[in-house]
Amino acid sequence: MRTERPDAPAVVDAYADRVAAYVHIPFCRRLCPYCDFAVQVGGDLDGYVGALLVEIAADDPFARPLDAIYVGGGTPTSLAAVRLGEIVAALAERFGLAPDAEVSIEANPEDLDPGTAGDLREAGFNRISLGVQSLDPAVLRALGRAHDPDQAVAALAACRQAFPTVNADLIFGTPGDAGWESSVRGVLDSGIDHLSVYALTVERGTALSRAVASGAPAPDPDDQADAYLLAQSVAEAAGLVRYETSNYALPGYACAYNLITWAQGEYAAFGNGAHRHRGGVRSWNIRRVDRYVERLQTGASAVSNQEHLVGWDREVERVLLGLRRAAGVATGRAGAALLASPAGERLLAAGVIAADDHRLWVAQPLLGDEVAREVLALAPSEC
Ligand SMILES: C[S@@+](CC[C@H](N)C(=O)[O-])C[C@H]1O[C@@H](n2cnc3c(N)ncnc32)[C@H](O)[C@@H]1O
Ligand code: SF4
Repeated sequence: MRTERPDAPAVVDAYADRVAAYVHIPFCRRLCPYCDFAVQVGGDLDGYVGALLVEIAADDPFARPLDAIYVGGGTPTSLAAVRLGEIVAALAERFGLAPDAEVSIEANPEDLDPGTAGDLREAGFNRISLGVQSLDPAVLRALGRAHDPDQAVAALAACRQAFPTVNADLIFGTPGDAGWESSVRGVLDSGIDHLSVYALTVERGTALSRAVASGAPAPDPDDQADAYLLAQSVAEAAGLVRYETSNYALPGYACAYNLITWAQGEYAAFGNGAHRHRGGVRSWNIRRVDRYVERLQTGASAVSNQEHLVGWDREVERVLLGLRRAAGVATGRAGAALLASPAGERLLAAGVIAADDHRLWVAQPLLGDEVAREVLALAPSEC
């Protein structure tokens, strides 16, 4: 039986030494009005996979085999399972894969029938994350989704049959969402072991932001706070543990890939717009799909830019990432500087953050952004 609690400090801190690989698949059937990821409708799928395989083969292995692979998007299930399996096999060949490695894929409900779920499992994936978003038909329409609630429930059942670990993504705070509690209960009833809940965010440059600018209702922060707390109580009553601002898991089912990134661990990344963290450097690939493919085809690097994370900046980032976790973060220089600052004293007195002799954590996750702003505003400190 899996028992590891993902809100235990010793459990989450261990991920700092583990390593992962992310693969971005940018293709979608259509563009959701709220989405600002590096995606496009259709394209040269074979050319893109070819470029990915070149990029993977040219990268340097870590000192240890991969503990996690995450194939995200976009809509990875735009590719046939056999092609996705080739990508996993290429990663395993180049980097090695730990025997207990997590191998995750994101999928959209309209693509997931029992046959496809079985094919993905056979292709090497052992965790699937389904973009359900809502089980309310009006909300799914408002979000411009291609699936309806019945398809989502059927897809969850297919995933449950085929996979040892199943996540559902939900979006809360869509204006007019009267079915939020039913959505949360519905996905939990399907037997998922992991749940991600995201506040609908109006990203600049999206169709949603243009609609809001033209008078469509924007998400209401108070409604979103209520929805967040409701999800928390329903998920926790079902035995899931909140281990990050937006993420819940049954003990033993936390997402290893996410835990590596929040522990400031190292990860390789492949595909257009993909971000990596290796050897103290954060770098990211060119965003446009055609230019990404062209670069790989001509033997050029796909990296568009990079930043060296050293000294105080690295320490501040460690605390910012670590504070997203329920277990918080070892206090260190930046944590000590926060606690010693007027803002830190105020946040502590108000119960927004909490601390013991070694650690600091956010006690009111709804105010996590305010805490992050104060951490970013800290002056470099030697304490
Ligand atoms: C990049 S998407 C990929 C998953 C898949 N293509 C899908 O849409 O189901 C990953 C998740 O991010 C979340 N997401 C994307 N844009 C968002 C936004 N503007 N506000 C809130 N959540 C968002 C959704 O829950 C989505 O499932
Ligand atoms: S939300 Fe998912 S399906 Fe929709 S455009 Fe973004 S990546 Fe594609």
